[in-house]
Amino acid sequence: MITLSDKYREIRERLKNSLSEARYAHSLGVAATAACMAMRYDISLVERAYLAGLVHDAAKCMSDEEKLRLAEEKGLPVNSYEKASPGLLHAPLGAVLAEEVYGVRDEEILSAIRLHTLGRPEMTTLEAILYVSDYVEPDRPDVPYFRAIREAAFRDLDEACYLTAKTAVDYTRNKGQAVDPRSLATLEYYRNRMEEKGLS
Ligand SMILES: [Fe+2]
Ligand SMILES: [Fe+2]
Repeated sequence: MITLSDKYREIRERLKNSLSEARYAHSLGVAATAACMAMRYDISLVERAYLAGLVHDAAKCMSDEEKLRLAEEKGLPVNSYEKASPGLLHAPLGAVLAEEVYGVRDEEILSAIRLHTLGRPEMTTLEAILYVSDYVEPDRPDVPYFRAIREAAFRDLDEACYLTAKTAVDYTRNKGQAVDPRSLATLEYYRNRMEEKGLS
């Protein structure tokens, strides 16, 4: 019987060599958490959620200069927010590496990776699972703003997306940085979903 970690052994080995130890541990945590969230919200997504979680931060450990250079080389659009914070580019670049280096051909997995820091309104279940599991995986520090997302993660996916978007926007604002409008659009959509459900 082949397990998911057996099936993706080669990807794991390659990731281990290109990420820091902490980032690799985080990636394994997101893969396991995303697979568990899929068991809760759509069992047919377990394997794809695992793979999305495993490779989502493939571009995280490059320098800002490398990220900007690779984005240019791949013809990715870079907006003013990404120019100011090139770290944001690790999500769209992660999708490029997932496809070109790790052989991921599944467009929805690539989309989930591309969106995992900023989200978007009306995410698919797989996109939403990766967006949330990135925050709730067990290796993240146990701080109050993560705890609220963790409490919601297996109860209500819309609420978990709302709390994740709110945390991401607050975090950027607290650093004194301008918030990418795509993050604000995600927050607004999920805040409205909460209002529709009478939860906020
Ligand atoms: Fe990331
Ligand atoms: Fe991550």
